[in-house]
Amino acid sequence: MSPSINPRVHEIAISGIRQFANQLVHYPDAVNLTIGQPDFPTPDNVKQAAISAIENDLTGYSHNAGLIDLRNAVSKFFYGTYNLTYNAETDIIITIGASEAIDTTFRAILEPGDEVILPAPFYTGYEPIIKLLGCTPVYLNTSDTGFVPDPKRLEALINENTKAILFNFPSNPTGVTIEKEQMDALEQVLAQKDVFIVSDEIYSLNTFEGTHTPFASYPSLKDKTFTIHGLSKSHSMTGWRIGFLMGPTDVMKHCIKIHQYNAVCASLPSQYAAIEALTNGRDNPAKMNEHYINRRDYLLERLHAMGLPVEIPKGAFYLFPSIQHLGMTSFEFCTKLLQDGGVACVPGSAFSSYGEGFIRISYAYKMDTLIEGMDRMDKFLQSLNNTRNVESV
Ligand SMILES: Cc1ncc(COP(=O)(O)O)c(C=O)c1O
Repeated sequence: MSPSINPRVHEIAISGIRQFANQLVHYPDAVNLTIGQPDFPTPDNVKQAAISAIENDLTGYSHNAGLIDLRNAVSKFFYGTYNLTYNAETDIIITIGASEAIDTTFRAILEPGDEVILPAPFYTGYEPIIKLLGCTPVYLNTSDTGFVPDPKRLEALINENTKAILFNFPSNPTGVTIEKEQMDALEQVLAQKDVFIVSDEIYSLNTFEGTHTPFASYPSLKDKTFTIHGLSKSHSMTGWRIGFLMGPTDVMKHCIKIHQYNAVCASLPSQYAAIEALTNGRDNPAKMNEHYINRRDYLLERLHAMGLPVEIPKGAFYLFPSIQHLGMTSFEFCTKLLQDGGVACVPGSAFSSYGEGFIRISYAYKMDTLIEGMDRMDKFLQSLNNTRNVESV
């Protein structure tokens, strides 16, 4: 006899991105376009800050919420960049990546039976936490509205069980950003409702066109919005595990307890690196963005030439082309593309049922890799078309 585990764990699965990436070991020559991790090294000055912290034996615990110097740097950064005011003493927690910030927020606000609205398709890191807490994810279809939530649809989904709505702009998996007027229309709905907003803005510094507006910048929303951020993407620091959770003071005093018992604090050398990233490393994201923009434009041209319809993304580092016209599920398409074409992309269905009919291509890869990937995909699609033409004769 073995003791039983939490039955909710059975309801969650390994992320669809990982499931697909795991197949790659069987295809060692495949071009891998599945991973959402910047291909650049962490900037030298940032690395040096951590090295000198280690050399100076700054390797212990910090305050649970993080070094006050780092929280001050975060506060200054968000004020300077987005005109957002977060008090370093009370409103900011340094977390173990944005992942822990998402987990802490949901654990602080959700009770079993609550509903959380997720504009879909969405990043794979939200739904499992919601389910583990005995809550229900409610999908808001954005696949036919340019991957931006329609305010009327949103309003129709809000009921007395709705506890929170999650937003993620710029978006993983679509790369889509949201215009100020579109946010204004959502704000009109949200301001009237008694719901929390969880806004994952981890890609905000990877905005290529227009300006990023945080949800918390609306005075009507500030007191019910949690802003999730971090340095994983903007400064190519995925392995350093530094995230930021910012929110209303009266709930943050509870979030700190969850963080304390779960993590104690973020890694101290990483926190020193983070101070450097937010002070002297402010230009780093813009330098990386120049590369991302070139890569995006190259891929858009290639995908158009292949006849794959795609929204023009203005941020993050993903493209989400449609494969609906090919008459296969995204999983079938990606499996065939990997087996016969030697290219790995993520099936859109990994990002909910509303991602079906799309595939995610990451361009956090060197140009040579992208060129080879597109050459192979082009060849694969041509052979697919030839087979279909022969079959239809
Ligand atoms: C939208 C989004 N949020 C959060 C995360 C997790 O970030 P971190 O590595 O800082 O935990 C990712 C990582 O891919 C992401 O794409």
